[in-house]
Order: sequence, then structure tokens, then C-alpha cells
Amino acid sequence: MALYSEKVMDHFRNPRNVGVIEDANAIGEVGNAKCGDIMKMYLKIEDGIVEDVKFETFGCGSAIASSSMATELIKGQPVSEAMKLTNKAVAEALDGLPDYKMHCSVLAEEAIQSALEDYRRRQETSAE
Ligand code: FES
Repeated sequence: MALYSEKVMDHFRNPRNVGVIEDANAIGEVGNAKCGDIMKMYLKIEDGIVEDVKFETFGCGSAIASSSMATELIKGQPVSEAMKLTNKAVAEALDGLPDYKMHCSVLAEEAIQSALEDYRRRQETSAE
């Protein structure tokens, strides 16, 4: 059996939503200390909906594929749904990742959670 699914290869070769959102109102950055990979997520949230999302990932192929899939999964979704995104859901949407590559999908979950946390903080500050 091939190590990586077709979907992983597809999202690795043609990652969706790569880049930066200049006027993002939620930004999250996380890294994995072991492998040194870094993932940054930019979200544009309007009326509680993730209107746009882009990412920059300096990391392995699985991390790139995971970020790409994660952005596809939350784009157009309410914030409440984006908050529920798990690394398992990302890996499943990619038709699986090898066990030793599951941490790459964890990075995608954490980057989105970190961006949503940033959004919540900004909301609190602007409400003060
Ligand atoms: Fe570190 Fe993939 S090897 S995120």
C-alpha cells in the first residue's frame, strides 16, 4: 500500500489557500519543537463566519497537506464549527496519514485553535 493517500499527495502538490491575508482579524502560529515545523494561519472572520483563510507552512509534506485540508474544512464555516475541528477530522479528510505523521495534522488543529483564540482576545479588547 502506498504510504500516502492520493488526497495527501494532491494537497501537498497543489496546496489550497496558501498565502497571507493582509487584513486578517485572527492569526495563529504554532510549531512543533521536535521536528521544527512551523504553521501560521490567517483568518478573516465576518459576522461569525470564516470568510477567508490562508496559511503559510514551513514544514513537511504532511504538514502542508494538513494545513491545506484544514483551511478547506473551515472556510465558509461558522466560528463555532471551526472550533470543533480536530486533527483526526483533518487526517480522515485526507484519507489517513501514517501513524508517525499524525502530529503533522495536530499542528493544523493547533494553528486554527490559536488563530481563534487570537480572534477571541481581539474581540475582548475591542469591547473594552
Ligand atoms: Fe513535523 Fe510533519 S514532520 S509537522
